[in-house]
Amino acid sequence: MQRLQDATELKFWAEDRPVPREVLLKEAADCVGVLSMLTERIDAEFLDACPQLRVVSNHAVGFDNVDVAACTERGILAGNTPDVLTETTADLAFTLILATARRVHEMVDYVKQDKWRTWGPLDNLGVDVHHATLGIMGMGRIGYAVAKRAKGFDMELIYHDSTRSVIAEEKLGVKFVSREELLNHSDFITLHVPLTPETRHSVGKAEFEQMKASAILINTSRGPVVDQAALLEALKSGQIRGAGLDVTDPEPMRADNPLLALPQVTILPHIGSATLNTRTKMADVAARNLVNGLLGEEMVSCLNPQARGIGRNKS
Ligand code: DGY
Repeated sequence: MQRLQDATELKFWAEDRPVPREVLLKEAADCVGVLSMLTERIDAEFLDACPQLRVVSNHAVGFDNVDVAACTERGILAGNTPDVLTETTADLAFTLILATARRVHEMVDYVKQDKWRTWGPLDNLGVDVHHATLGIMGMGRIGYAVAKRAKGFDMELIYHDSTRSVIAEEKLGVKFVSREELLNHSDFITLHVPLTPETRHSVGKAEFEQMKASAILINTSRGPVVDQAALLEALKSGQIRGAGLDVTDPEPMRADNPLLALPQVTILPHIGSATLNTRTKMADVAARNLVNGLLGEEMVSCLNPQARGIGRNKS
């Protein structure tokens, strides 16, 4: 805020709910820059409603809410906040792996509900994480950081991505496999792909059918990557063992969602990057992207540097 206040004439939405679309369209109409959250849809309609807009800075690494091609066409620079949240998000993905495997939230409730009567050899069993096979779907920065953690747990590491990561293979001994192989062999499948038209619902009925009955699905990427109705069926029918989700479709998820009634599911409210340290760094990158973009200086992370030579950002 300070950085933005010092450099610009700032308007901001201070309520703890997303800015309503009509308010956003009206208030942003005369702005040269916008700092957006993943709750704002930055699409052609929005861009056309803001004829002076030169920079959109998204306060997230994911930018499925921003139509980058539409920004480029109009000569509008778009920024995001990669790197600074990688390790924090990987920590949370691993938290979900452990929590789901060992039924942590169910067991916390068990104690709170006064169900703890004795210690029984077969009571409250979970599954081992150590030495289990972890399938990483998407070996980008966060996938790699999860693999590093998993190595410390002696997990068997396999991954699939559209391009191979020589670094992950050489440094971490992660094995590249086909999508089918990953689905067939993993004890845990963790998703680290961006949300695109190709990845939307890319984990659905057909994929659950290929998973082990003991498989646990972890999603810290974007909710719509998973077909949630198919996930519900797969869990209810015992096609897979459990799921740990930090992202849902839609967000926020309401408390009466049937997934929440299943004890083998752990759901968190999109907190992958939610530590003060990381959120502060994300805010800093987002603010610098915005100010630098407007000043014609290099942005920390620009998704479409080619927009600089076009239209509004020509000079
Ligand atoms: C992102 O940055 O894309 C996360 O989902 C929010 O931290």
